[in-house]
Amino acid sequence: MKLPGLDVMRMVPERSRVPQANIPQTLAERERLRAIVARYVAERRERLVPPLVLEELRTHADRVATVAGIDPGYRDYAGVLLNNEVWREALAAIPYDRRLLLLPKCLRVEDKCPAPFDEFGLLCKQCGLCTIQDLQNEAERLGYAVLVAEGSAIVMSLIQTGKIDAIVGVSCLSVLERAFPYMEAAAVPGVAIPLLQDDCKDTTVDLDWVWDVIHASSDDRTRRLDLDGLRCEVEGWFEPATLDRLLGGPPSGPADRVARAWLTRAGKRWRPFLAACAFKAWQDDPSAPLPDAIKRVAVAVECFHKASLVHDDIEDGDATRYGEQALHVEHGVPVALNAGDLLIGEGYRLLAECDAPPAVRAALVRIAAEGHRQLCLGQGAELDWAHHPRVLGAAEVLEIFRRKTSPAFEVALRLGAALAGAPDDVHETLTRYSDALGVAYQIRDDIEDLDAADAPNGVQAMRPSLPLALACERATGTAKARLQQAWLTGHPADVETLRRLVLESGAADRCRMLVELYKEQAIQTLPELQNASVKGLLRRVVGKIFRVEIQGWCSEFEARNAAGGAVGAAAAG
Ligand code: IPE
Ligand code: MG
Repeated sequence: MKLPGLDVMRMVPERSRVPQANIPQTLAERERLRAIVARYVAERRERLVPPLVLEELRTHADRVATVAGIDPGYRDYAGVLLNNEVWREALAAIPYDRRLLLLPKCLRVEDKCPAPFDEFGLLCKQCGLCTIQDLQNEAERLGYAVLVAEGSAIVMSLIQTGKIDAIVGVSCLSVLERAFPYMEAAAVPGVAIPLLQDDCKDTTVDLDWVWDVIHASSDDRTRRLDLDGLRCEVEGWFEPATLDRLLGGPPSGPADRVARAWLTRAGKRWRPFLAACAFKAWQDDPSAPLPDAIKRVAVAVECFHKASLVHDDIEDGDATRYGEQALHVEHGVPVALNAGDLLIGEGYRLLAECDAPPAVRAALVRIAAEGHRQLCLGQGAELDWAHHPRVLGAAEVLEIFRRKTSPAFEVALRLGAALAGAPDDVHETLTRYSDALGVAYQIRDDIEDLDAADAPNGVQAMRPSLPLALACERATGTAKARLQQAWLTGHPADVETLRRLVLESGAADRCRMLVELYKEQAIQTLPELQNASVKGLLRRVVGKIFRVEIQGWCSEFEARNAAGGAVGAAAAG
């Protein structure tokens, strides 16, 4: 699939917005609050039976704020979160076609919105300028009734018709507060997502969150799956003793020792985690323990990834990895090359030997080989540029990202799915999902490189970098000439000037928006999947990978971080 590149970028809305004072301003802080409230409710589930009256909500919100040290200004926001959390299970149990999605008209771009109104509210013209159409289309596809309107009168009359058993509402805090008594009196399960602004014009909302809520369904058997717990379990497969067992014994010689140590050294383990997630999603009983076969497949996935990193560092001349010496710097290029090759062999051996029917094993090897080939072709495109430098446009850089980074995600997901016996037609969707996920991931990596003053980065080491491409496209005059010069020479004379030009161009913000857009694009492939568990899980995986990790995700891992530096550097990287 070809990603839409520049067209996608034109779609990114650039509206200036007045933040709402009583809502946490960063996504990380809003997510932290949600996690705190979820834990608070989970611990008191039997006492917090909906509907809660306003006084009860306020008391609990105050308590949450005190316990978790939250700004008291966020009390009303915490109250909404609490109410959502107590209704969550009830909402999930109600069929989509008995739910109402209520969106506020202020989500539109007021000056440009072509939509007329009738007595039920706004009639969206699907112009693509705001998010109303995406949310409305998806909710209607599921079976929801959707209204883009404000006013408790309409809601109440709909409740009275007996056709609506639950409401998902997006609104500013003050409207939510006014609507609350009606909802409480009618005891209608209601989950509300507060707008990020309250000035009634060109507002925005955490789209991921709305998406999650509208899809909440008790058909999703993985809904309660603890992703942090799963990630922790996956991390455990790379403990030296477990790894030796899964690989069939301790290292058998010097090459094996280098390769094995490299495999255990560090890393975020997202790819083996994805393999495990896909397997769980298609497993008949997602709560059943994971068999060794998926552990071996997950280790194979990490073998391929780690091999690609060793070779990549040699190809790019990068001297560090995980905050330490890269493997070829530590052991020399020949040993590092050989360790990478060995890991590739180990990966294929694990797939070929894993406990699965012969046809499944053949499929695993084929999936890995296809991905391997794609990755090398993508890497080849980048290397070709390095030998024949030219100015690359953002769309070309994004295409390189898709080719070099997405295959590893794709292989991980498809291997997990194939091992679990997923139907053949899911593979195409997994490819499309991975294409977008990989691009988002690589853009984020580029942004992090740009932010880290001393890290080797695309600008400094002259790799196809999205910030550089965007800066170059936007610049004029001498700035443009210097940026173009940097692309062409492959060796910027003055790295600091270049970095300043890139930062001043606003390219970093643009990149951040593109990360959001490609995340969104990944999520939008999911409706193609028929299985609610798979959809729900893959939806949450996007959130997990891109969440700013405020706290450690795994207590054991944290403990190891405290004990040794290498793993800590990887977790932060
Ligand atoms: C590194 O991937 C290469 C990129 C695609 C950015 P990761 O940053 O996920 O590497 P590990 O898993 O931590 O080793
Ligand atoms: Mg590279």
